[in-house]
Amino acid sequence: MRNKIVAGNWKMNNNQAETSALLSELSAKLPDTEAEVMVAPTYINLVSAIGDLEGSTIQVIAQNMHFAESGAYTGEISADMLLNVGIDTAIIGHSERRAYFGETDEILKKKVVAALQNNIRVMFCFGEELEDRKSGNHFNVVKSQLKNALFELDKSAWKNMILAYEPVWAIGTGETASPEQAQEMHAFIRETIAEAFDVNIANNVSILYGGSVKPGNAVEIFSKPDVDGGLIGGAALVADDFVAIIKAI
Ligand code: 13P
Repeated sequence: MRNKIVAGNWKMNNNQAETSALLSELSAKLPDTEAEVMVAPTYINLVSAIGDLEGSTIQVIAQNMHFAESGAYTGEISADMLLNVGIDTAIIGHSERRAYFGETDEILKKKVVAALQNNIRVMFCFGEELEDRKSGNHFNVVKSQLKNALFELDKSAWKNMILAYEPVWAIGTGETASPEQAQEMHAFIRETIAEAFDVNIANNVSILYGGSVKPGNAVEIFSKPDVDGGLIGGAALVADDFVAIIKAI
């Protein structure tokens, strides 16, 4: 069966002292849950975050990863560097990486392959823009994002994959997909994976929803059968809000 997951993507927020303070508040308030709880601080604070969370069930994950093993890639971080400090999960394909840092499907495919080859679990993000939804093209866009980056993977790769559907128009805007829109897209994603691979793989992959999830809408969104949790931005920066969202799952 697929896991429930609540992950906080902190993006470029919180220096080291702020990271420690937020993690200590989160650890103190963490409710009992069967869900996997993850936080993704910035690279520079990953090591201290692991130290801050010693003995906690909260997992520290990376926001990004480069596809090369090592070499002349100024400013980048490799799979080995993550593994070496105890990180075994990376977010790949976030819409902000696609929009501001030129990450194409082709680059993302290389990143996914490199991560999986190194036994790094991939949280693969994708989602349509507002114009795509308005023009009714959202299913095609999502399908092509999945196809271009993931369809050539080996079936065995899927045990290390998490999918995160994040419609770009709902990220940081306060506008969220309705629970029905989320369910409709998640069911489509599962169907798409079933067609490209098999039903078993589709039924076992966790599909998270991301985009303005807040304590006030989390219960409704998480109650949908194909929504297995959330990737949380802004609300993950406030311990009480993130805890409320974890309780909602
Ligand atoms: P918000 O929750 O701030 O909309 O961000 C979602 C997101 O991008 C998580 O990766």
